[in-house]
Amino acid sequence: IRSIVGRPDGGAGLAGKRVRAGGWVKTGREQGKGTLAFLELNDGSCPASLQVVVDAGVAPVLKKLVATGTCVVVDGILKVPPPPPQGQGTRPQRIELGVEKVVHIGEVNPAKYPIPKRNPTLEFLRDHLHLRSRTNTIAAIARIRNALAFATHSFFQDHHFLYVQTPIITTSDCEGAGEMFQVTTLINEADHKLDKELIKIKKDGKIDYTQDFFARQAFLTVSGQLQVETYACGLSNVYTFGPTFRAEHSHTSRHLAEFWMVEPEIAFADLKDAMTCAEAYVKYLCKWLLEKCLDDMEFMDDGCRHPISSEHERYLTEVKFQKPVIVYNYPKGIKAFYMRLNDDLETVAAMDVLVPKVGELIGGSQREERYEVIRERILEMGMPLEPYEWYLDLRRYGTVKHCGFGLGFERMILFATGIDNIRDVIPFPRYPGRADL
Ligand code: 4AD
Ligand code: MG
Repeated sequence: IRSIVGRPDGGAGLAGKRVRAGGWVKTGREQGKGTLAFLELNDGSCPASLQVVVDAGVAPVLKKLVATGTCVVVDGILKVPPPPPQGQGTRPQRIELGVEKVVHIGEVNPAKYPIPKRNPTLEFLRDHLHLRSRTNTIAAIARIRNALAFATHSFFQDHHFLYVQTPIITTSDCEGAGEMFQVTTLINEADHKLDKELIKIKKDGKIDYTQDFFARQAFLTVSGQLQVETYACGLSNVYTFGPTFRAEHSHTSRHLAEFWMVEPEIAFADLKDAMTCAEAYVKYLCKWLLEKCLDDMEFMDDGCRHPISSEHERYLTEVKFQKPVIVYNYPKGIKAFYMRLNDDLETVAAMDVLVPKVGELIGGSQREERYEVIRERILEMGMPLEPYEWYLDLRRYGTVKHCGFGLGFERMILFATGIDNIRDVIPFPRYPGRADL
């Protein structure tokens, strides 16, 4: 449908062409006492729908076609309908498809279809995740999300960054916030009967069906940073882009338990370079959307309002500067162990990019590359050294000045679309109490 109505001429130049089109009915109506049906057919390829006209001679039971949500595949001829009679509007006529044959109907019983025809709220749609991709808003978000992922690879590849896949299961807590989900295996009961040695009885007398597969506690990663640093300290400019997990019990419109993060890591570079890269990357994403997704961006501009985020971030981005702001050199006490200690010995070379309405979009830093200093920091923070020996090796052998940052992919989508709640910009949101589908 995009290849027809998405053309600059709205499809007019295709008049007379025979095509097959398939999609789901957005709205449908019968007209002329059941002799004609008009369908707005959309297949998700673009925000616009194709008008489809079906004659009762082609499909005797037009009623079957018009219910919202019905899947329809038709063959027909594209035409520009004749202009309306004088005085009845001057808008250019849209291309429409005059149907010659109905190839497929996936029926919908309108009395039972869970999605209301008119403006279901995003909150309502969260309880119908499996059907919400058929709505205009969720479809536009999906296309914008897709474009941002493509633009991300395009930006870093253009700048000769190497894409590195970091692990999802890990033993290290990068941010040191203790917000990790633990990974264990289930043992089935048959195994228990065979091997009594495996059985562990918990304090409450119940059988413990979990087992330490990895021989030590393993978790879902909160960030790919520590691992991607090993590649930066060998391959210079790298990035990872994948799912990350945080067991924070924040029921906010900005937090997910599972979210995607883009994390570049740059060797031979300092905090200033990380800021420059972050700014160039975010600008690139915005420009990309305006160039490649203008129709979806215009659609998002029509119907979105914004909530309030934390007071200070809001003051900086909305009152004082009214644009994205970078805050840097945070007190060391509130930041992670790997950030480079500044000469004042009180602050670290950290930076956050804050944007209007969303708050923190990016968190980054220059990494502590001095062996003695980072070792001291780990001890000072009461962390064990042993799990970080490999990380210390990067400083022990051939250490290099390096920096990086993490962009919360869903927060970028919030910023780009103006959507209020982060649960609506990821296809299958995970948050406290919610992991189904
Ligand atoms: O600031 P954070 O915690 O930084 C790190 O994880 C670093 N290791 C990144 C790095 O330097 N490579 O997280 C980075 C970004 C945040 O700025 C925010 O946009 C997003 O990840 N984020 C979340 N997004 C959704 N839900 C959550 N629970 C998030 N926590 C962080
Ligand atoms: Mg942060």
